[in-house]
Amino acid sequence: MRFTDNELNSLRLAVKDKLSPRRYNHTLGVERAAAMIAEKCAKEPISEIRAAALLHDITKEFSHEEQLVLIEKYQIKVTESDLMSPETLHALTASPYIIENYPHFADELVLSAISCHTVGRPDMDVAEAIIFVADFIEEGRTYDVSVRLREKLYSELDKSGSILNMVLALCCAVIESITCTVSHLEEQSMFVHPVTLLTRDAFIKRRDEILRLVDSGKRT
Ligand SMILES: [Fe+2]
Repeated sequence: MRFTDNELNSLRLAVKDKLSPRRYNHTLGVERAAAMIAEKCAKEPISEIRAAALLHDITKEFSHEEQLVLIEKYQIKVTESDLMSPETLHALTASPYIIENYPHFADELVLSAISCHTVGRPDMDVAEAIIFVADFIEEGRTYDVSVRLREKLYSELDKSGSILNMVLALCCAVIESITCTVSHLEEQSMFVHPVTLLTRDAFIKRRDEILRLVDSGKRT
């Protein structure tokens, strides 16, 4: 185990001190959801996933001006699309902020999962996909789409299927959470980050590949 229970407890206290009560409760919800999914999906490294969940929104409550100051301070490369999606900038500012302020937790998995938790990334691995989905479906999310997706994913994970089936359920959850986000943005005539669309297409391809594997397994 990369991080001990004591280390994770002190991280919870540090994060609690930094975030509003609402954001802290959301953070704990993401941690619980992510740990639960991780236990089912290919024995992902749970302590790193917990740390990633605890730190994923650590810069979320900074103002837009503060995000821009951090981008300048840490010389973060941002695209025009990133700047057109200001709500996603905290995923980019979090990594260098964590390296500076929480160096013990600046683990590769932690930083990579946090860096793609808002817009996604076409080649997200299982741990990254877990944080991405957990952020959308944690129990504090009460939108109909989040509740529906949470119930659907948890019921799939409750079935005692193969790890391949668990990863398939996770893959479908990534696709559906992006579809919901994109529809919401389009309804509001808002900009959709192109990486989000590329991520959805990549996961549709990955889902279809897993379905073929599951099918061929049934036939043999
Ligand atoms: Fe979040």
